[in-house]
Amino acid sequence: MSAAIVSDLTVNPDAPLGVFDSGVGGLTVVRALRELLPNESIIYLGDTARVPYGSKSPDTIRRFAMEDTQFLTGQGVKAVVVACNTATAHALPQLQATFRVPILGVLEPGVEATLAGGCERVGIIGTAGTIRSHAYQHMLAMRQPDLQIHARATPLLVPFIEEGWTEHPALESVLMEYLQPMLDRGIDTLVLGCTHYPLLVPVLRRLLGDSVRLVDSASTCAHRVKDALMAQGIVRTSVSAPILEIYLTDLSEQAEALAASFLGSEFGRVRKASLAG
Ligand code: DGL
Repeated sequence: MSAAIVSDLTVNPDAPLGVFDSGVGGLTVVRALRELLPNESIIYLGDTARVPYGSKSPDTIRRFAMEDTQFLTGQGVKAVVVACNTATAHALPQLQATFRVPILGVLEPGVEATLAGGCERVGIIGTAGTIRSHAYQHMLAMRQPDLQIHARATPLLVPFIEEGWTEHPALESVLMEYLQPMLDRGIDTLVLGCTHYPLLVPVLRRLLGDSVRLVDSASTCAHRVKDALMAQGIVRTSVSAPILEIYLTDLSEQAEALAASFLGSEFGRVRKASLAG
């Protein structure tokens, strides 16, 4: 990422950050970015017309991620944050090789935060696409070869979250079904490998207590973005109010209501994005 910024002398520090996800889950990253970098403008793209990405093939995920990034670069963003674990796992190298702006994903910050906390037995949950890519497992094992890793695809969680059932007893049963084998193996850390999952932190804390550390890729990613902007001197300095523009590829009342719950606050008009296919 550094090389790309350094070589691009035309980067305007006041340009917005671009952030995309398969749907509205990536707004957890936007929320974390706004807390940490309140003066940055952000353009968010949620591909609600084609969500979920987690069950799609790697080729399709890469094609969608390319189109999402193309949309954001067309809006003049200074950097792109891939706020989707599935898209990061399958498409990050291709995006970085194709586009001129710096592109950051959510996996590496998650891996760093996992290891920085000190751990011996790690559980990872994510979409089928993320877990099948072995990206987290590989990156963790490369950096800490003696780490015990228990990864599990947890495809039922996104539908529960999108339904707003984050406190539903049925969700607790599903979570325990997924997590019990990991708990039996004594995991000390659980990586929330999906940008939807920060909304599960309250129920997970209740179910797991303090014995298991939760690593949330949204906040760790925001810290990485801050470090990168500061290191390259492209932090926004303008004193005018920063903008937040939200584009979705399919507009519906449900998606907009869900977006507000992910962002944790109200926002202005949501616009419809048309992607170049
Ligand atoms: N937000 C996506 C991720 O972080 C999950 C939703 C999907 O399957 O598209 O992987």
